[in-house]
Amino acid sequence: MKRAIAMLMAVTLAGSVVSCGNGKKNDKNANSGKSVGIAMPTSTLDRWNSDGKFLQYRFESAGFDVDLIYSENDATRQNNDILAMINKGVDLLLIAAVDGTKLSGTLETAKEKGIPVVAYDRLIMDTHALTYYVSFDNRAVGRLQGEFVRDQLALDSGSDSYNIEFVAGDPADNNAKYFYDGAYDVLEPYIESGRLVIPSGKDSFDQVATPEWSMDKAKANMKDTLAKYYSNGTQLDVVLCANDSTALGAAQALNIVYNGKNYPIITGQDGDVANLKNIVDGKQAMTVYKNVRDEASVTYEVCKMILDGEIPTSKLVEKLPIDVSFDSESYNNGVKYVQSYLLLPSVITKDNMQLLVDCGLYEWDSAHKYLELTKTS
Ligand code: BGC
Repeated sequence: MKRAIAMLMAVTLAGSVVSCGNGKKNDKNANSGKSVGIAMPTSTLDRWNSDGKFLQYRFESAGFDVDLIYSENDATRQNNDILAMINKGVDLLLIAAVDGTKLSGTLETAKEKGIPVVAYDRLIMDTHALTYYVSFDNRAVGRLQGEFVRDQLALDSGSDSYNIEFVAGDPADNNAKYFYDGAYDVLEPYIESGRLVIPSGKDSFDQVATPEWSMDKAKANMKDTLAKYYSNGTQLDVVLCANDSTALGAAQALNIVYNGKNYPIITGQDGDVANLKNIVDGKQAMTVYKNVRDEASVTYEVCKMILDGEIPTSKLVEKLPIDVSFDSESYNNGVKYVQSYLLLPSVITKDNMQLLVDCGLYEWDSAHKYLELTKTS
């Protein structure tokens, strides 16, 4: 694996590195007439709206036409939306799948028409049509959550035991199992030694998965767990939530059902504005932030090479002002290993939120208390 060493800015704080490539390379050229179809899963979460915005900006400012669609977590709708873009004759498809296992038929049509397909953030399964994958190191996301819990509870010293529950993501999203495994691998030794106890006994991905990453489903599951295993006053110390939408659901359930005197550590991922607010208010301990502007920039460079008839390789990472690795051995989509460009996630807590402002992605509100997404970047 090779790593790009040049970073426009890298800040180390609380053990994490936030990469802030500026993502604004404005290489207007003769791309006019070429078009890119971008399929995003849903417009209900901050992160996908930011992804869409940054991707559209990168391609349009380089002269490409862009079709940007959101299929609102409906896999059938996403298939139809993508087919419409294929029939319109886009030159490349960039897809963050609603359900990574349900696109192979549609992508066969893309392949027959010679339209390259790049998977964005989520791997697309069971298809030879896929050429490249751009994402974050998904296992590292889970690992950061697990390490955060380990360090907060000082599990490597002392002898107290703590209660933990897991809340994982959507089984239709290939990322979700990676996040879960990354966190579980870090915490497993402490579960085995008894330092961490799971009162519900739900210790497999399938038992704690949350279809569609739904906040409401996470809330309902958490309410159920609290009612069954914690109503007698048992203390819950950690809710290891895979992302911010599930973390919001868990926090809401705790507000309604939990009677314990403590407030558990809740983890998350994405840096959604509502969760950053919860972090300031002490209702969520951390989020794993993935700089989606950098993800969009790397994606643009990969797609641009493909559209220019070139073959992206590991060499591309050396040219990028963003810390990214090239990996052709980790992501198998069921029919082949997909060549992947993987960015690095970082931990955000109440103490280092300013990093998000320094990156130009968020700004403080007028009271300098909470963060909001910047209107300008
Ligand atoms: C993304 C996460 C996001 C989740 C829910 C995953 O595929 O990697 O960043 O929180 O989907 O939308």
